[in-house]
Amino acid sequence: MHPAISRKEFAARRRQLMKQMDGGIAIVPTNPHHTRNRDTEFPFRPHSDFQYLTGFAEPEAVAVLIPGRPQGEFVLFCRERDPAKETWTGRRAGLEGARAQYDADDAFPITDLDDIMPGLLENRGKVFYSLGEHGEFDQRVLGWVNGLRARVRAGIHVPSEFVDLGHLLHDMRLFKSAAELKLMRRAADISAEAHCRAMRVCRPGMMEFQVEAELRHEFIRQGARLPAYEPIVGGGANGCILHYVDNDAPLNDGDLLLIDAGCELDCYAADITRTFPVNGRFSPQQKALYEVVLDAQLAAIDKVRPGNHWNEPHEAAVQVLTAGLLRLGILTGELEQLIADEAYRPMYMHRTGHWLGMDVHDVGEYKLGDAWRVFEPGMVTTIEPGLYIAAGTPGVDKQWWDIGIRIEDNVVVTRRGHEITTGGVPKTVADVEALMAGS
Ligand code: GLY
Ligand code: MN
Ligand code: MN
Repeated sequence: MHPAISRKEFAARRRQLMKQMDGGIAIVPTNPHHTRNRDTEFPFRPHSDFQYLTGFAEPEAVAVLIPGRPQGEFVLFCRERDPAKETWTGRRAGLEGARAQYDADDAFPITDLDDIMPGLLENRGKVFYSLGEHGEFDQRVLGWVNGLRARVRAGIHVPSEFVDLGHLLHDMRLFKSAAELKLMRRAADISAEAHCRAMRVCRPGMMEFQVEAELRHEFIRQGARLPAYEPIVGGGANGCILHYVDNDAPLNDGDLLLIDAGCELDCYAADITRTFPVNGRFSPQQKALYEVVLDAQLAAIDKVRPGNHWNEPHEAAVQVLTAGLLRLGILTGELEQLIADEAYRPMYMHRTGHWLGMDVHDVGEYKLGDAWRVFEPGMVTTIEPGLYIAAGTPGVDKQWWDIGIRIEDNVVVTRRGHEITTGGVPKTVADVEALMAGS
């Protein structure tokens, strides 16, 4: 078994949110089922906000938090037990389970939502809800409030304010607890092992999807049924397409392979990129560019520590990448001017990282007001600089074409600095070549 979040921790999260709610009411639906085709569905994945507050992984559920409500503050709407339906689609906690296993103070059938919600909304000033996140559900929420408006003459107080739930909740989610970090380390370990497996099996002539299969095999084998996002497995020119997911081309001798893949474990993501030579040996050009990216990544990681601000790793990466391109003759000019002109942009067009957590591009503000956010312990970010030199990049000699490189690790801000959770997969030229040769 892998580590998990305790019921106590879910309860503490609900309490912490309710403390900040100023007597309002929070409405938090989980995700709907999404049809894949006809009567086939995509695998169900709970909404991260809902999961964070409840741990309840069934579809068709809504959590309602009502601080100070005498009959109970945590109300869970969910599916009722139904032996016939459970035979077809799986077990359900039911209303009893919602109370006994998930600590709901009150549980109601999801089919009664429209009847019960207006009563819960009465006399609450603020409604905490993520408008725009939940598709058609927005209309139902607005419908309940409008229904109350029609009854003001009966002396009912209608909520007067909608507040974005994310404003409070996403700041909580930005800071990971010890239990969350444990899960994220485990997701990182599994993902690192999957990348090692890919490096070991890769040979010229294989198809990209055959390498993808190795990644997925390792994820599932270790209990992570789903990747945190569609794996990117791009050889040669495909490594220069940032979100390449076709994964259906042959892997050629002499090309690099860029793999961006991470698993999800109990709704927590890992997000790793490694780039390595299909045949196990970097060419001189590949090695030269790879080491520029690696130096940029190390410089960026070094900036992840309490007190530094969010953009410092990016600034460090840009500095090292530009200096490297200048040294290799790919850019010409004066370093500071090239940085000011963003001359690297045709070859480095994304940012150096993003928050990581339940969502791969996790929630949390990057700026507070006009100022970059300052790193604090418990935050988790990726650090992922790259260089992508597509064939025909203006002004760049042919010898550098079709080289796409990204190196991505997951980094926790700690009290003294940082912890890299994805160190289980090699990234120096020597270590990558040794792993590939040793298989
Ligand atoms: N895998 C998506 C990203 O690296 O941001
Ligand atoms: Mn990634
Ligand atoms: Mn990433």
